[in-house]
Amino acid sequence: MNPDTAISDVEARIDLDAVDEIVKPYYGKKEMVIPILQKVQEHYGYLPRPTMERVSYMMRIPLSRLYGVATFYAQFKLKPRGRNIIRVCKGTACHIQGSPKIAARIEEILGIETGETTDDLRFTLEEVACIGACALAPVITINNEPYGRLTADKVQNILDKYQ
Ligand code: FES
Repeated sequence: MNPDTAISDVEARIDLDAVDEIVKPYYGKKEMVIPILQKVQEHYGYLPRPTMERVSYMMRIPLSRLYGVATFYAQFKLKPRGRNIIRVCKGTACHIQGSPKIAARIEEILGIETGETTDDLRFTLEEVACIGACALAPVITINNEPYGRLTADKVQNILDKYQ
């Protein structure tokens, strides 16, 4: 599948009514672009291109300027998150017990770096601070379900359970 196809399919179905509601109170207030983008992201989970185009049109702000703002601030996400969220604990106990190897194995299997989403939107890979299950180190969670005492060779079987 073309890497952008899945995202375009999702974005083609986006209902833009919420953008209109979000922008209305800010008409003419170009300095409010950050709160607008925050609210759009809060509603859609990220900043889909059609929403950026809509904000650009309604606020009379060039699209390139909006993307300039969105790419400058790390809080803004321009890609959707995956259906399954993997979090690798980067706390001390997990680090000592080998979490970097676990993360590397997941990155290798999925072909993405930590912080990224697979092109088919199946997984997003993130790091997380200690989740309070240090006795099970190293730990990852997938959709908040914990997997403890992990080894790199168990990773593939676990990922296979999630579509
Ligand atoms: S350090 Fe990973 S659960 Fe505490």
